[in-house]
Amino acid sequence: MNDEIYRLEGVEYHYGKVPALKAIDLTVTKGECLSVLGTNGSGKSTLLKVLDGLYFPSAGRVSFCGEPLTEECASRSSFRARVGFIFEDPDVQLFSPTVHDEVAFGPLQLGLAAEEVLTRTGEVMDMFGLSHVSDRPPHTLSAGEKKKVAIASVLAVNPEILLLDEPTNGLDPRTQVWLIKLLEELKRLEKTFVIATHDLSLAEDVAERTVVLDESHRIVADGKSIEIMGNKELLLSANLIHEHAHRHGETVHSHSHGPFSVHDEHE
Ligand SMILES: Nc1ncnc2c1ncn2[C@@H]1O[C@H](COP(=O)(O)OP(=O)(O)O)[C@@H](O)[C@H]1O
Ligand SMILES: [Mg+2]
Repeated sequence: MNDEIYRLEGVEYHYGKVPALKAIDLTVTKGECLSVLGTNGSGKSTLLKVLDGLYFPSAGRVSFCGEPLTEECASRSSFRARVGFIFEDPDVQLFSPTVHDEVAFGPLQLGLAAEEVLTRTGEVMDMFGLSHVSDRPPHTLSAGEKKKVAIASVLAVNPEILLLDEPTNGLDPRTQVWLIKLLEELKRLEKTFVIATHDLSLAEDVAERTVVLDESHRIVADGKSIEIMGNKELLLSANLIHEHAHRHGETVHSHSHGPFSVHDEHE
């Protein structure tokens, strides 16, 4: 299968004795946009780090484009250029003295000529509306601006595969809409996405396919996002929506929150 990017078979990951992933079987195909949905602590970030070759499983196998994803493979610059990781917390990612240097870092690592680095950095900063903060230290920016710089610095390398960890967390509504539009544009370029989130609307809006991790750190569902979002029992059991009880006069009603939050179940 030429289009296979990742194949995970029986993958387990433990932090010491703390389990984070169990019996993970997963394939990701070129051009797919996959969301990994799960409650806090279900293992989403760990899974992305395994896909990024930052962590190696305690058991099971991971292959990347048909080759075992070993430490040697993950450390190759060709792997690093193909796979971009956008961390949940941009502060983990931003280390350069200025926004310009941050965005230029990846293209410099690719060994591009100085002029090309400048052109590419300028283009990406224009695209992200970051030119006016070019000389600012990244740590002085707002949360939304930091996230934009973190994404811009990854996209400046033009990776084919993007791993995004909770990309909408901490963003105001306008920046969330901007991000969703950006993802839609990137999808037209046939990139492959794996997006870890507990944001059901993000998963539903951008990802055609969703896998659900539950508190046992296993994949409990893998299918079309639209079908997964319609499965209230599954979302309740994976702790992605909750039932909420309240009183109207003498009657106690309960309804779920999340995509089913319309109060029509008891009207
Ligand atoms: N560095 C770590 N050391 C020990 N346990 C960790 C560490 N990172 C994550 N864990 C644990 O592994 C499990 C999965 O965590 P994580 O992958 O961060 O989940 P998620 O991203 O879905 O919130 C959780 O129980 C978490 O507490
Ligand atoms: Mg996480």
